[in-house]
Amino acid sequence: MEINQNENTTSLVLLKQGAEARVFESTFVGKRSVVKERFSKKYRHPTLDSKLTLKRLNAEARCMTKARRLGVLTPVLYAVDPVIHTLTFEFVEGPAVKDVFLDFGLNRVSKEQIDDIATKIGGSIGKLHDGGLIHGDLTTSNMLLRSDNNQLVLIDFGLSFTSSLPEDKAVDLYVLERALISMHSSCGNVMDQILAGYRKSSKQWSSTLNKLAQVRQRGRKRTMIG
Ligand SMILES: Nc1ncnc2c1ncn2[C@@H]1O[C@H](COP(=O)(O)OP(=O)(O)OP(=O)(O)O)[C@@H](O)[C@H]1O
Ligand SMILES: [Mg+2]
Repeated sequence: MEINQNENTTSLVLLKQGAEARVFESTFVGKRSVVKERFSKKYRHPTLDSKLTLKRLNAEARCMTKARRLGVLTPVLYAVDPVIHTLTFEFVEGPAVKDVFLDFGLNRVSKEQIDDIATKIGGSIGKLHDGGLIHGDLTTSNMLLRSDNNQLVLIDFGLSFTSSLPEDKAVDLYVLERALISMHSSCGNVMDQILAGYRKSSKQWSSTLNKLAQVRQRGRKRTMIG
């Protein structure tokens, strides 16, 4: 793909090819940037497909901007192109939380660092939830740590939506808990630390955590049935 910017044609380097989006590294007005392109699903009707893709593109842009207003760090959104279905963001320099957590086992990262990151994760999710925003895809790949100041930046709002229901908030946390168990069990109980951060930042923490207990129970029953 090539995008024309101010009469200069900028080339793009593919970072990730997903099922619904491709992510490229590029430059935007001289700044390092990320271009996320939503592409069409061949099995859908072309007009319907284009409408759905555009709806999701706009929803992602809106939710990212809303998260920012709620005090959660997200990449700066530089541009939305509704014709070629792309979002252009600031490139965040720094590792994904996933890679930092995976390095813990290799002794390059201390338990204090893991706990500090976990507290930040809980704090950010608490702010999102109190503002009525559900991330929808909380995994450690969708969290970056800025190298220069260690700030936690949330990305990938492609499945985000607005809701104030404790059930939706609990499921958001449960998805993260499952991801941590399957990927980062060597880090110990990171989820406890995340929930401690959540309790500090969310005024509505008790209704969410009560629901989380129920959601876990349902998950367990489902696992037993198989
Ligand atoms: N602003 C950014 N700065 C640096 N790297 C980024 C940025 N946005 C995305 N990335 C990198 O690209 C990867 C994919 O981006 P993203 O998570 O938004 O797409 P995706 O998982 O394919 O999306 P979706 O789940 O909506 O299909 C991220 O895991 C991250 O490594
Ligand atoms: Mg992602």
